[in-house]
Amino acid sequence: MIKIAIIGASGYTGGELARILCNHPHASITAVTSRQYEGKALAEVFPHLRDKVSIICENSDVEALSDKADIFFTAVPHQTAMEIVPRILSAGKKVIDLSADFRIREASVYEKWYQKHTAAEYLARAVYGLPEIYRDEISTASLTANPGCYPTSIILALAPLLENRAIVPQSIIADSKSGVSGAGRAASVATLFCETADGFRPYKVADHRHTPEIEQEVSLLAGENVTLSFTPHLLPVSRGILSTIYATLQDGITVERVQEMFLSRYQQEKFVRILGENEYPATQYVRGSNFCDIGFKIDPRTNRIIVMSAIDNIVKGAAGQAVQNMNIMCGFDEGEGLAAAPFFP
Ligand SMILES: NC(=O)c1ccc[n+]([C@@H]2O[C@H](COP(=O)([O-])OP(=O)(O)OC[C@H]3O[C@@H](n4cnc5c(N)ncnc54)[C@H](OP(=O)(O)O)[C@@H]3O)[C@@H](O)[C@H]2O)c1
Repeated sequence: MIKIAIIGASGYTGGELARILCNHPHASITAVTSRQYEGKALAEVFPHLRDKVSIICENSDVEALSDKADIFFTAVPHQTAMEIVPRILSAGKKVIDLSADFRIREASVYEKWYQKHTAAEYLARAVYGLPEIYRDEISTASLTANPGCYPTSIILALAPLLENRAIVPQSIIADSKSGVSGAGRAASVATLFCETADGFRPYKVADHRHTPEIEQEVSLLAGENVTLSFTPHLLPVSRGILSTIYATLQDGITVERVQEMFLSRYQQEKFVRILGENEYPATQYVRGSNFCDIGFKIDPRTNRIIVMSAIDNIVKGAAGQAVQNMNIMCGFDEGEGLAAAPFFP
């Protein structure tokens, strides 16, 4: 059994890590932190975990926890993660960081979109934790930077097309919609019921912080610097992301060729499901699971391909992918703890 600490266990991704890990055959949760809920049982913070986890939230420094765990998940906001992660690494422990702090390879790019990076020397050591692309690097990583939720849905949808030079990279437009849990559990006016229920709106248009992360990985796949348009929207649902991505096809690319690209790229992947012709992904068919469902349609009138992908933002977009990374880092079967089918309706 490996021992697990969840730093920031009282948030949505921390709670989801606990939900997934309490059923993991080779992992045991041995420490969880929260400042607000110090001394409270995690099952009181998250009543759905009643009788499933019996651990108490601590508000301890990571140094004090270092003997208690082998692997640390940091499920805290960006900026907080960059203060904590180096201290865990100094204690000789492995980290899977769910924040954005170690996803961007260039400190100057990070600082343009976020704020000053105080642990930039760790960026070169971090591996971008998208298993379908970086599995080998993740297997030997001590610091895995778990991808953002929107980037996961967009990069997986585009990878086969970019690797096969099937689309014009500069033509990409990603239009994404997320459930409200994407904003975290901390109270804010923007996520109140009346602000989110029964309506639908874009936010942070041409300005969302996931843009440089998406561009970084899309550029690496394309072999050239790519600038793209990304517009996120807030859906009145608790979980789920649906991304609809448009790109101009290169000459001579047929439906059959695209189908073959997607099927061959992902045929060995446990968590990517390629849909058939005229089948479209939906958030309700991936809910609670680590799946990314991908469908596509070619529009011959515009010579554009429309790729659609659906994930659960707190599973494949966060905690599930983090456990997938942990499995790879520990040499376990990649699907361990993640086998549950989506829950529907
Ligand atoms: N929600 C998603 O869909 C999603 C998807 C991908 C990635 N992420 C990323 O994952 C991280 C966690 O997201 P979340 O949605 O779970 O956030 P959240 O619900 O707001 O939870 C944040 C957690 O961090 C703790 N925390 C906050 N400030 C802290 C500090 N200064 N020191 C120590 N602990 C602190 C909070 O507990 P206390 O306040 O009680 O200490 C809480 O447990 C973020 O970086 C987020 O960007 C989220």
